[in-house]
Amino acid sequence: MSADKLFTIKEASEWATRHIGKDVTVSNISYLIQYGRIKKFDRYGSTQVSQNDLLQYYESYNGSREINYKERISEDLNWALSFEQYKEAETTKHVHRLHPYKGKFIPQLVEYFLDEHADRFKKETYFSAGDIVLDPFSGSGTTMVQASELGIHALGIDISAFNSLIGNCKVIQHDIVNLQSEIYRITNALTNFIYSTNIAQFEAELTKELYEFNNHYFPVPDYKYQLRNKQINEEQYGNEKEKLFMPIYKRLVKKYDVRLLQNQNETFLDKWFLQHIRNEIDCVFTEVKKN
Ligand SMILES: C[S@@+](CC[C@H](N)C(=O)[O-])C[C@H]1O[C@@H](n2cnc3c(N)ncnc32)[C@H](O)[C@@H]1O
Repeated sequence: MSADKLFTIKEASEWATRHIGKDVTVSNISYLIQYGRIKKFDRYGSTQVSQNDLLQYYESYNGSREINYKERISEDLNWALSFEQYKEAETTKHVHRLHPYKGKFIPQLVEYFLDEHADRFKKETYFSAGDIVLDPFSGSGTTMVQASELGIHALGIDISAFNSLIGNCKVIQHDIVNLQSEIYRITNALTNFIYSTNIAQFEAELTKELYEFNNHYFPVPDYKYQLRNKQINEEQYGNEKEKLFMPIYKRLVKKYDVRLLQNQNETFLDKWFLQHIRNEIDCVFTEVKKN
């Protein structure tokens, strides 16, 4: 590796664009700093990054990914199906972001197989507008959404009632005006409910304490950079800091008289939610039933 050189963020984005032959924006570089992939240097009031860090990052990951996979699997790999050009905002566009669901595939993948284009890999097209697609494991409904966009009818089946609910919410027709006024009414009722308890003050003070604690012991991005470079043992460090924070947390729980456990321990909602979260859920359900 050559002698190190420092770049401003803008210079880094220009250098990286030339180096990997793809558009690397200023915010891509900021992202690498934020997530501890490369180190941030403060020089003369401006943020700089090191060329060696960038080289290491692109060699270890992005730049060589396609080549590595082709070596491991086959030259005949359809790299278009990696969809690496899409940003997270595009792979979770519009309704796909309605509810977090880690097991979903991205809409672009579904579109690739459903739409009418053909390429070296997809030589035939299978569906046209008006056809019916069945997804027997529909999860959060990605197939149904993409089919609908292409004018294809879709049926989804899923063993999980909750996943079916997520999927259905994405494709049924909503009365938007009614929906909006309901959301507004319920949000107002919930806000009033929360402010009628001491929880809002508890959370505000806890957030402030956590902010100061994290800034001190887990400064971003330095902490992430040290973790990636194995300069810190995450588990040991985390355990030590948890012990340090516990007395602060306990003092606030006592001060605001927060009940951590519920009276019963039978259902999922009893088991996993603090008493006050449970009260908030009950408040929302009561409001929903009022309509
Ligand atoms: C990986 S997820 C599918 C995700 C989906 N492609 C999406 O984009 O959201 C698999 C789904 O299969 C469902 N599943 C598993 N076994 C099933 C079964 N026997 N019958 C129906 N659905 C089932 C699960 O509940 C889960 O939602």
